[in-house]
Amino acid sequence: MYDQAEKLRQLLRKTDNTHQENTIEKRTNNTRIMAVTSGKGGVGKTNFAINLAISLSNLGYSVLVIDADIGLANIDVLLGLFPKETISSVLTQNKKITDVITDGPNGIKIIAGGSGLYDMLQLNNDSIEHLKKQLIELESLFDFVLIDTGAGISEMVMSFVAAAHEVILVTTPEPTSLTDVYTLIKALRIKGHNNMLKLVVNRVENSKEALSVFEKLSIASSKFLSTKIENLGYIQNSKQVVEAVKNQHPFISLYPNSSIAKSVNSIAIKIIGSPIEDENSNFQNFIGKFKGFFANNKTY
Ligand SMILES: Nc1ncnc2c1ncn2[C@@H]1O[C@H](COP(=O)(O)OP(=O)(O)O)[C@@H](O)[C@H]1O
Ligand SMILES: [Mg+2]
Repeated sequence: MYDQAEKLRQLLRKTDNTHQENTIEKRTNNTRIMAVTSGKGGVGKTNFAINLAISLSNLGYSVLVIDADIGLANIDVLLGLFPKETISSVLTQNKKITDVITDGPNGIKIIAGGSGLYDMLQLNNDSIEHLKKQLIELESLFDFVLIDTGAGISEMVMSFVAAAHEVILVTTPEPTSLTDVYTLIKALRIKGHNNMLKLVVNRVENSKEALSVFEKLSIASSKFLSTKIENLGYIQNSKQVVEAVKNQHPFISLYPNSSIAKSVNSIAIKIIGSPIEDENSNFQNFIGKFKGFFANNKTY
């Protein structure tokens, strides 16, 4: 099964590597660690995460995207990249985190995940310490670290989401996507996590539909879960996303003047416009929460 998937990936990979290897200097004092997640799979998390990363990078911020979707890791495929290492080498071979970072387009950096992420579930104290030191290194390098997680409330997804200070929830207007994201918020709150929740509504017809989806979720969350959600914006349903996926290029670069690119840019600007002044939002805290999650929550 794995071999077939790997062969397919190799076939899909481009032979010409046109990605620039420019490096963007960090410009803010803190590092914002944001998990991009959803209740239901296939709602557009990975496409959103990559395009948001590029938008932030184009605005001059240094951005790292970590592919933390164990089962369906595919950032490399969407970007036509060839990552040689995954986060697993940091855990199993004591490698430096900087050794597993791959160059992506427009100056963004990527850490591939894949099956290596299973190692994170088996961390002993020594490897936790090593990982912590390595993750803290990232704080001197990046303004933003976006963690593209899997969907739902599995142990792995919940641990990444719970550890990140800011969480971007992606949903489509489909009722199933909405009820699943509501379940995710409920699971976070039941476990006592109080991360900042932000919503992006993907694949909408127009702004009216996006607003109605946001209102439904935010009213239910505030009424039944005492949880506030910030409206980050929306992305229209567009064939250009599908074309970009087929081309293995991010839509924001392929169609920079499209409404979907403008939507992502305005989301990036909104994020930059609401900086968090919280000293607990660093990697020291992230890894503490990540480990704590496994110690206390074996039920997922
Ligand atoms: N705004 C959109 N318009 C049209 N199709 C979209 C849009 N966003 C996502 N898709 C489709 O959904 C598929 C899955 O997107 P992906 O980002 O891989 O989802 P996830 O990471 O949530 O599983 C894409 O390959 C694309 O075909
Ligand atoms: Mg994905």
